[in-house]
Amino acid sequence: MEKKKIILTGIRPTGNLHLGHYFGAVGNWVKSQEEYNEFIEIADVQALTDNFNNPDKVRKNVRELTLDLLACGIDPNKATIFIQSMIPEIAELTIYYSNLVTVARLERNPTIKTEISQKKELFGQGGESVTYGFLGYPVSQAADITALGGTLVPVGEDQLPLIEQAREIVRKFNSIYGETLKEPEHLLSSIPRLKGLDGNEKMGKSLGNAIFLVDSEDTITKKVMEAKTDPEKIHKDDPANPDICMVHYYHKLVSKDNLDTITSECKAGTRGCINCKRELAKNMINFLQPIKERRRYYEENPDKVDEILKNGTKIAKNKAEETMDKVKKAIKINYFEK
Ligand code: TRP
Repeated sequence: MEKKKIILTGIRPTGNLHLGHYFGAVGNWVKSQEEYNEFIEIADVQALTDNFNNPDKVRKNVRELTLDLLACGIDPNKATIFIQSMIPEIAELTIYYSNLVTVARLERNPTIKTEISQKKELFGQGGESVTYGFLGYPVSQAADITALGGTLVPVGEDQLPLIEQAREIVRKFNSIYGETLKEPEHLLSSIPRLKGLDGNEKMGKSLGNAIFLVDSEDTITKKVMEAKTDPEKIHKDDPANPDICMVHYYHKLVSKDNLDTITSECKAGTRGCINCKRELAKNMINFLQPIKERRRYYEENPDKVDEILKNGTKIAKNKAEETMDKVKKAIKINYFEK
């Protein structure tokens, strides 16, 4: 167990998971838990950087997210799910790391830069919306990763600058205080970003183009029936271009057995969009069936979920304590040790 490489990933508890999360991230974590020592952080501290005025939302979503993760097939006997705020060593590390990063460097971080400009659009140019905590969340993320000894970090493309920032912090730390920490590497998903039902480049909660894992069969069908198809196809028997059709895009994910037929019928104009959508809705519902069943099991056993979180957090805390000991020694703040 100990010899396996450590994967560390995190996710903010701000809402239910959708298919974009599944295909872009969590589905891969389900596979990687088989061969790696995998830690999955419920990043509630990070969620609070944006939602400090909405603690109820974060609290509720810690449980919701855990249910979604278990539903997707994260196995608590193989992977460790833990709660960020329950590991004070991460906050402690963040303080020491924050000396190793300039404010200018944080402001230049492309992920932060984009998020700040989005905030400015929302709140005006004043910039009051950018807090010290928000600007510093890449530092805290570097602490998440290194506290657990994570060497591989599976992320989407938008997170790459955060991994780069973590690598810089590690290098700086090691160059000043001696070789102590391991530089993490990113692990890019094969589908880093899933398109929305409307054809938008990204499926997102706020974009209103997502299918959530908890959506009911009726909701899924309704959403699929509204998905964007080839606009040039007017009549049921017009030939169409599957490459620009969102229905076909999702068929590729959930209708693998029948994909060749679907594609050729679409191109030949022998498949109407309405039937094609019905078939997609049915396949998507089937695809989500085992996920929903596992979720139901854990919903009915909330004590098990609490147990999983408590155990996972205990394991993660032990690991973070080991890192903290090494870090204190390196910075020479281990006063009563020889
Ligand atoms: N920033 C990530 C997100 O918004 C969540 C996250 C927190 C994370 N800590 C992490 C990702 C550590 C990878 C590693 O989705």
